[in-house]
Amino acid sequence: MALLSFLSILLFGLLSRSQFLNSQIMNDQAALLEIGKEFGISVWNGNISDYCSWPGISCSSNNSVVERLDLSSHGLQGNLTLISDLKSLKWLDLSYNKFHGMIPPSLVNLSELEFLDLSFNAFEGSIPVEFGRLRNLKALNLSNNLINGVIPDELESLVKLQDLRLYSNKLSGSIPLWFGNLTSLRVFTAYENALSGVIPHRLGLVSELKLLNLHSNYLEGSIPESIFAMEQLETLVLTQNRLSGYIPEAIGKCRGLSNVRIGDNNLSGGIPREIGNISSLTYFEANNNNLSGMIAMEFSKCSNLTLLNLALNSFFGTIPLEFGLLSNLQELIVSGNSLFGDIPTSILRGKNLNKLDLSNNRFDGTIPRSICNASKLQFLLLSQNSIKGEIPREIGNCTKLLELQLGSNYLIGTIPPEIGHIKNLQIALNLSSNRLHGQLPEELGRLDKLVSLDVSSNQLSGSIPSALKGMMSLIEVNFSNNHFSGPIPLFQPFQKSFNSSFLGNKGLCGEPLSVSCGGLNDSTHDTYHHKVSYKIILAVIGSGLAVFLSVTVIVLLFMMRERQENAAKDTGTTEDDEASANPVILAGNVFVENLQQAIDFDAVARATMKDSNLLSTGTFSTLYRADMPSGMTLSVRKLRSMDKTVVNHRSKMIREVEKLSKLCHGNLMRPIGFVLFEDVVLLLHQYCPNATLAQYLHDQTKKPDWSTRLNIATGVAEGLAFLHHVAIIHLDISSGNVVLDSNFTPLVGEVEISKLLDPSRGTASISAVAGSFGYIPPEYAYTMQVTAPGNVYSYGVVLLEILTTQLPVDEAFGEGIDLVKWVHSAPARGETPEQILDARLSTISFACRKEMLAALKVALLCTDSTPAKRPKMKNVVEMLQEIKQD
Ligand SMILES: *[C@@H]1O[C@H](CO)[C@@H](O)[C@H](O)[C@H]1NC(C)=O
Ligand SMILES: *[C@@H]1O[C@H](CO)[C@@H](O)[C@H](O)[C@H]1NC(C)=O
Ligand SMILES: *[C@@H]1O[C@H](CO)[C@@H](O)[C@H](O)[C@H]1NC(C)=O
Ligand SMILES: *[C@@H]1O[C@H](CO)[C@@H](O)[C@H](O)[C@H]1NC(C)=O
Ligand SMILES: *[C@@H]1O[C@H](CO)[C@@H](O)[C@H](O)[C@H]1NC(C)=O
Ligand SMILES: *[C@@H]1O[C@H](CO)[C@@H](O)[C@H](O)[C@H]1NC(C)=O
Ligand SMILES: *[C@@H]1O[C@H](CO)[C@@H](O)[C@H](O)[C@H]1NC(C)=O
Ligand SMILES: *[C@@H]1O[C@H](CO)[C@@H](O)[C@H](O)[C@H]1NC(C)=O
Ligand SMILES: *[C@@H]1O[C@H](CO)[C@@H](O)[C@H](O)[C@H]1NC(C)=O
Repeated sequence: MALLSFLSILLFGLLSRSQFLNSQIMNDQAALLEIGKEFGISVWNGNISDYCSWPGISCSSNNSVVERLDLSSHGLQGNLTLISDLKSLKWLDLSYNKFHGMIPPSLVNLSELEFLDLSFNAFEGSIPVEFGRLRNLKALNLSNNLINGVIPDELESLVKLQDLRLYSNKLSGSIPLWFGNLTSLRVFTAYENALSGVIPHRLGLVSELKLLNLHSNYLEGSIPESIFAMEQLETLVLTQNRLSGYIPEAIGKCRGLSNVRIGDNNLSGGIPREIGNISSLTYFEANNNNLSGMIAMEFSKCSNLTLLNLALNSFFGTIPLEFGLLSNLQELIVSGNSLFGDIPTSILRGKNLNKLDLSNNRFDGTIPRSICNASKLQFLLLSQNSIKGEIPREIGNCTKLLELQLGSNYLIGTIPPEIGHIKNLQIALNLSSNRLHGQLPEELGRLDKLVSLDVSSNQLSGSIPSALKGMMSLIEVNFSNNHFSGPIPLFQPFQKSFNSSFLGNKGLCGEPLSVSCGGLNDSTHDTYHHKVSYKIILAVIGSGLAVFLSVTVIVLLFMMRERQENAAKDTGTTEDDEASANPVILAGNVFVENLQQAIDFDAVARATMKDSNLLSTGTFSTLYRADMPSGMTLSVRKLRSMDKTVVNHRSKMIREVEKLSKLCHGNLMRPIGFVLFEDVVLLLHQYCPNATLAQYLHDQTKKPDWSTRLNIATGVAEGLAFLHHVAIIHLDISSGNVVLDSNFTPLVGEVEISKLLDPSRGTASISAVAGSFGYIPPEYAYTMQVTAPGNVYSYGVVLLEILTTQLPVDEAFGEGIDLVKWVHSAPARGETPEQILDARLSTISFACRKEMLAALKVALLCTDSTPAKRPKMKNVVEMLQEIKQD
């Protein structure tokens, strides 16, 4: 009897338990159906009993209760309240969608929640105070929304919180004192908000804190010594605040600190000598403060130091000789101080030195002959000093230079013809305001990539050599205030310049000066006639052209009216009315002359206001299709306006875009123009209807073809190798940023971003999101710096995607495993490479399989977790070309 009742109790217990489970499963099923309906998730269309295998859903292993929901990047919007019915949810990722409105407090009913990511949406209102009840929360990411108000005190109860990201919102108020009680916190980022007040000393109690990034706020007071006390800090970014006081000596306690960015504040005092104890220091940026004293010699003990930026402070004295020991130093930027002495030759010996910026100081030595012995120097900026002597012929040894600034010094002698050997010189050659004399060497004409040439305010004489017509990339020239004479050569960049570029030379004549060469001086009667007839011919052609153009314009205007009328008829009224609210164009240009007529800036701007034109969304920009009234179709890239640096430096930006339009490589997308309206930057490109590499690879309807894929892989590598060659690091390599033209030639896009957002500064959102999910190199988490080896890694992921036809991130790989890990761990799982490759390709022929295996080897090298072990992009190209040839 007793046994029976015991059994029945047991049975009852089991039953009720499974009933409970059943009801939870039923509940989850019902909830998922509702959620799918509300958000319009079309991929959730399988058998409802199999919901655990639906995309984005993971269930607990022993039963079918939904534990993880990943709906990121699905363009979703709707009422989030339904999600709180999935009671056992531990992990919820809704990032990169279009959710807006308030964050629903009902999410707090998800009491098991450990990971909540609502970033990159358009949530408004304040952070719900109810979130304080999510006691199990370990990671909370609300970044890149429109959230305002203060950080609520209720969050103090989130004692398990390890990772809190609130960046790029509109939060105000101060950082609460209780942060010191979040003892598990490792990462805290709240940059690009409107936080004020001081950084609380109690933050120093957070014993695990490794990353603190609060740049671009209104924080004041000093950097609390306590935050260094726990000795765990690895990254500290406080750029662009109102911090004052000294850099604490305690900073030296954090030996693991690799990244310090405290520029654009009001810090004073010197650099503490304890800086030398930070053995892992890699980036130190403290520009634009009130720092003073000598530059601490102790930096020379930080053997990993890669970037040192102390510009715009009040440092004085000389550059310590010991800096020659810094063999990893790539950038030394000390412009705008009161430094003096010789140009430090010990540093010039550094094998990795890439940028030396000593401008606007009082350096007073000569330019050493050893200036470029075996160096990688690309930027040599010495302007506004008191440098004496001649420009040594050895300057021609600086073959890697992209920019040479020697203006406003006391240089004498002639311009050495060897400057013409610097074939890479692209950005600028500036020798202005010195005491140079003699003729301009004809060899300058060999600088066919140079964009800006300034030799103004010297004592240069003779004629402007017609050999300068070889400088095919010139946009800016300045020959003013010299003793030049004779006719200005007929060369478009000269005649298109302002006449101020040639003024102050008594003997110069011809366009654009209003001084006609009038057959005076040396020109013989014959050449005079020749010139006259030349001019007449020009005038005739010109008027013909004018007639042609005005006819074209009239035709275009008619076409435009007709199109607009048709459009109005077709689409009814509402959408058109909304879109035709005329945007105010601030600036715009089309670089390709024969397209200028065909592109209408208003139409471009309006096209980006219609969702129906949207093609794709990237990390930094959104791509639209724009149909011009002329019938031409463009693709238009709209930069996210979140980066203030773009908006604040409009003229700099315009110049950068113009320069980029000259970067010529068959595998790079070049901008053909730009439009600025309100705070929006639009870049114009040719329209490529074949879509992106990502779409090509993952579109099931397309038949895969290995040789096309190998060509694409090689093309992308060539484009990137070229970028690296001209010292541009791409910020967002992914298959979504590679466009295919009608011949399946790959064009790497989003190159502009890398130039427009200056990656050497911690202020740009670069420190936040450089790259797309799945493509970001592992070291980025610590360095926050995108590097050439980092690009190689991202390229390796693209190559793996090409070889496997897998997405870079896929739940199917297992928890925390991305494509790279999945491929690298294949041997450990006992799988052969053939099981990794796309079998539809590798089984076609023995030759295909062999080529794919060779390419797989390259991809494995590229995605090595140690940056130094990855090959250079140039070598990747060579390896892939070898595969093709064999
Ligand atoms: C759904 O799957 C279950 C079991 O897996 C099966 O019994 C049922 O018939 C399926 N329903 C449909 C509509 O296929
Ligand atoms: C399922 O596993 C979880 C832990 O993963 C455990 O908490 C739960 O009790 C298990 N459920 C059953 C029915 O075994
Ligand atoms: C969302 O749905 C819930 C019920 O499911 C409702 O109470 C709430 O008002 C809705 N919220 C909005 C913003 O429509
Ligand atoms: C949580 O769920 C309960 C019952 O399911 C409901 O009554 C309550 O309103 C929910 N809380 C919130 C904040 O939505
Ligand atoms: C949000 O933050 C979490 C950690 O808190 C991180 O794992 C996740 O990648 C972030 N999401 C995005 C879109 O960056
Ligand atoms: C932090 O926690 C301690 C002990 O739990 C408590 O006494 C203190 O008030 C808390 N600090 C703040 C600022 O709330
Ligand atoms: C910067 O700090 C100094 C004191 O070191 C102070 O006198 C000055 O007013 C501050 N400047 C600003 C703009 O806050
Ligand atoms: C310097 O950098 C290398 C490579 O990143 C690293 O292995 C090494 O530990 C660093 N050295 C110090 C002293 O931190
Ligand atoms: C440096 O330049 C000088 C003069 O132009 C030349 O003779 C010498 O060979 C060059 N040295 C190197 C290492 O290229």
